[in-house]
Amino acid sequence: MIKNDLVVSIHNLSKTFGDFKALEDLEITINKGEIFGLIGPNGSGKTTTINILLGLLKADHGAEIKVFGHSVPSELPKVFPFIGYMPQDISLYMDLSIIQNLRFFANLYDINSNNKMNYIDEILELVDLTEFKNRQLNKCSGGMQRRTSLAIALLHKPKLLILDEPTVGVDPDLRYVFWEYFKKISKEQGTSILITTHYLAESVKCDKIGFINKKIIKYGIPLDLQNELKTINNAPKLPDMEEVFMYWNHKHKKAINLGGNV
Ligand SMILES: Nc1ncnc2c1ncn2[C@@H]1O[C@H](COP(=O)(O)OP(=O)(O)OP(=O)(O)O)[C@@H](O)[C@H]1O
Ligand SMILES: [Mg+2]
Repeated sequence: MIKNDLVVSIHNLSKTFGDFKALEDLEITINKGEIFGLIGPNGSGKTTTINILLGLLKADHGAEIKVFGHSVPSELPKVFPFIGYMPQDISLYMDLSIIQNLRFFANLYDINSNNKMNYIDEILELVDLTEFKNRQLNKCSGGMQRRTSLAIALLHKPKLLILDEPTVGVDPDLRYVFWEYFKKISKEQGTSILITTHYLAESVKCDKIGFINKKIIKYGIPLDLQNELKTINNAPKLPDMEEVFMYWNHKHKKAINLGGNV
């Protein structure tokens, strides 16, 4: 992999809140066109990692974080235009309609006005909201609000998409459509995607995954991880990702209880 393909590099990332350590020597790299899944239990540090990557939280001393080769947080303004972000909590204008929210953010991103309306229509179709585009957001269901939030993250065709639990509360059919789209833009447009999810069945769709519990406790290509566990357990069939996740998580917890590392 040539060096220019490196889109995100996180080294030695620790984060302490008071005397609570939320992240400990976290290491992540994401290459161009790669979908990286950050998978971990509640409170394992996924959103904290994303917030630091976006400059919303400050890392402890010693972290080395780069996005498109630029240091975070000092050089973030240079790369912000290339990043799309869907936060875990909805942060949209609830008294505006879906389409008004999209237009507002499209203007903010200064998207070429000739293509703007066509592209907004295209994105609305993708998230299946065309029919409801004039509905005020506070009258939309939770799933519809999340779909609007995803639409906004995609609006300026970012080169790096950061999605914090984008499929929560989204029905299975649409979740499938979202993942097909993520795979399409990563492979065809070279978009890199950092995604968190609690749906382990989805994680097999990532190119690489990292199980996180303050640090990356296991990292790899989903199928390789499944094969590795199959061999460890001498199992007759390939384990699903839920079994793989539980195995490494339990092993990690056991090691911590014994005072060591995995
Ligand atoms: N501002 C803060 N002050 C104190 N503790 C915090 C703060 N933000 C996060 N934490 C703590 O850091 C830990 C990691 O939180 P984080 O939100 O990153 O978890 P997460 O992996 O995203 O969890 P979830 O799957 O529930 O979204 C938690 O124990 C959380 O309570
Ligand atoms: Mg979170």
